[in-house]
Amino acid sequence: MKILILGANGFIGSHLSEAILSQLDAEIIACDLADHNLASCLNNSKFHFEKKDITRDLAWVTEQIKKCDVVFPLVAIATPAMYVQNPLRVFELDFEANLAIVRQCVEFRKHVIFPSTSEVYGMCSDAAFDEEESHLVTGPINKERWIYSTCKQLMDRVIYAYGKKHDDFSYTLFRPFNWYGPRLDNILNPQPGGSRVLTQFIGNILRGENIMLVNGGAQQRCFLHIHDGIQALIKMIQHKNNDAKNKIFNVGNPEENISIRTLAESLIKLIKKYPKYKALAEKTQLIEVDSEKYYGSGYQDVSLRVPSIARAREELKWNPSVNLETGLTKTLDFYLNA
Ligand code: UGA
Repeated sequence: MKILILGANGFIGSHLSEAILSQLDAEIIACDLADHNLASCLNNSKFHFEKKDITRDLAWVTEQIKKCDVVFPLVAIATPAMYVQNPLRVFELDFEANLAIVRQCVEFRKHVIFPSTSEVYGMCSDAAFDEEESHLVTGPINKERWIYSTCKQLMDRVIYAYGKKHDDFSYTLFRPFNWYGPRLDNILNPQPGGSRVLTQFIGNILRGENIMLVNGGAQQRCFLHIHDGIQALIKMIQHKNNDAKNKIFNVGNPEENISIRTLAESLIKLIKKYPKYKALAEKTQLIEVDSEKYYGSGYQDVSLRVPSIARAREELKWNPSVNLETGLTKTLDFYLNA
């Protein structure tokens, strides 16, 4: 089997590449703008990497799609501050650039495994979000935060419609719920909201800054360690012709549902165990900040986001296995011992 990974140097792409090489009998064709996260893959004879930009090198991408059996289009902007600051860039990359790729997967009848997102459920009030039943609830147009959610939602709908139109085109959509782990985002980015919350908070502590709790930090997220997320993707590859065919899967850990304030407190507690950073963690304070001040007026938050994972459990025989404390420790070992 040949697998194409577009955006292989990213958080999901780099972990997925490593897992495929070690667990599957498959070759990978991969591209990204850079390769610094792929050190463990680049010398593998089954890993063929080229530095390419999917927005400029579409002819190259087309050739690779033709050669492959499965396509992972993983290039996207996924940080909420960017949705508010540059919504058109999110539309152009996450939707427009990826639509061209999805259309080629349809044309050449290649199985596409596409990253949807937990964000498609938006402010849905269900206690647990169901892939087929839950409503997808976003805010008004002046809340630009929802551009990412709606781009992803529209792509889900487009892929679903292509699946209905062509019996011989197949796909799998996965919805990550706050995956975290080594290589999530760059903790050296000092900008408020410059990375997702976990790496933002680690960076704050290491730089001797206080942690900003947006609107008090009572909002909750379910965090899933990248190892578990990737195992779900491996199962989707293995079951692309049967249990994962033309399906949508939430991939998250409903057992690890915590408030952002609790996440900040846990990180401070865990970082105190690293002698080099103990003093910094001890002096970190939690400061409440208004979301408009932190992100701008185009931001709106999700207060509760819990996945139903019944479908992944039943059909993929997949279950989360890494608890939050273990996962956070592994992540801190990566960032702090580097
Ligand atoms: C994320 C991103 O949209 C995507 O990466 C992804 O598709 C999706 O969720 C997911 O992984 O499921 P969100 O969880 O809102 O969205 O993004 P974070 O930046 O990680 O923020 C989480 C929460 O922490 C938000 O409520 C945010 O307001 C809060 N936060 C963030 C703070 O309180 N302080 C900060 O300094 C940063």
